[in-house]
Amino acid sequence: MLLTKFPRRKYTPNKTPIEKLERLSALLDGPNIYIKRDDLLGLAAGGNKTRKLEFIMADALAKGADTVVTCGSLQSNHCRLTLAAAVKEGLECHLVLEETAIKEYNRNASGNNFLYKLLGAHVHVFENGTDKQAEVEKVCKALEAEGKKPYPIPVGGSNELGTIGYSVCAQEIIEQSFDLGIDFDHIIAANGSGATTAGLLLGLYGRNEHVEFSAIGVTGSTEEVSKTVFDLVEKTADLLETKVDLPKEKIHFYDEYVGEGYAIPTKAMIEAVQMLARTEGILLDPVYTGKVMSGLIDLIRKGKFKKDENILFIHSGGSPALYENMDLFEEDLFS
Ligand SMILES: Cc1ncc(COP(=O)(O)O)c(C=O)c1O
Repeated sequence: MLLTKFPRRKYTPNKTPIEKLERLSALLDGPNIYIKRDDLLGLAAGGNKTRKLEFIMADALAKGADTVVTCGSLQSNHCRLTLAAAVKEGLECHLVLEETAIKEYNRNASGNNFLYKLLGAHVHVFENGTDKQAEVEKVCKALEAEGKKPYPIPVGGSNELGTIGYSVCAQEIIEQSFDLGIDFDHIIAANGSGATTAGLLLGLYGRNEHVEFSAIGVTGSTEEVSKTVFDLVEKTADLLETKVDLPKEKIHFYDEYVGEGYAIPTKAMIEAVQMLARTEGILLDPVYTGKVMSGLIDLIRKGKFKKDENILFIHSGGSPALYENMDLFEEDLFS
């Protein structure tokens, strides 16, 4: 798989660490749980989008863009990191933000919203249900009319270049597994717009890894999201001029940890975020990794894994959103 033929900007100097979660593994009395610290990737406050943006921003620069335009929800980690990458590259950045089913725009909100202001974004806000991609195109047209050269980035950075970014993570995991002498039996990650899962699947199974993979959904149904992921794997394999035969029996999608919907808190997410904070001193987030960890805890409690198995949890970042959700963790809202 020739990843080097694509231009890349480097935003993280080294591999992100893989650590054993000794206390959490003991508390749950289950398998050996390891964590891949992609929350420690480069750019403002890290997280999975940094890997995708290394290839996406390189493409924007190669095409002569002076502005990037992307979209997300009010507390979008993707928007925060796209903005940080744009600042680093000296580009202007426009964010098309969509209100969620439960939250209207509050210009004084904390978390990623505060960081949009601090890093200097041009923000365009739309109500819940807006076609964000269409709004991105409109913003690009308006910028072109002003003589600018905008470069649109899809929601979550989930295109072929973003997928290549996460294949690099798979390559890192394989190398670290060899260096650490640990054979991972199972990898578990969040699935939103799809390129994180797609890139990991492509990078792992394109190299014939035997590991099992679980994608924990934070939005949509398994039917919808698995189609998006498999399409992305195929399109990216075409771009890389390679063929990957995915072992579908080793790939599991879960939609039961979403709860009532995207970004709507669940009791299990709150338990998971608190558990990681209090056993390992690691911050998860309420929208993505908190729900993934709630899934992992549930699967362990249901006896899905053997005690001697090695499980790798991908920490994809997102902790700034904690600060806009402090009320969830100050008291047990569900008691
Ligand atoms: C912290 C975090 N984890 C996971 C994801 C999901 O990644 P993907 O959209 O590639 O499926 C996102 C997406 O925004 C995210 O912000």
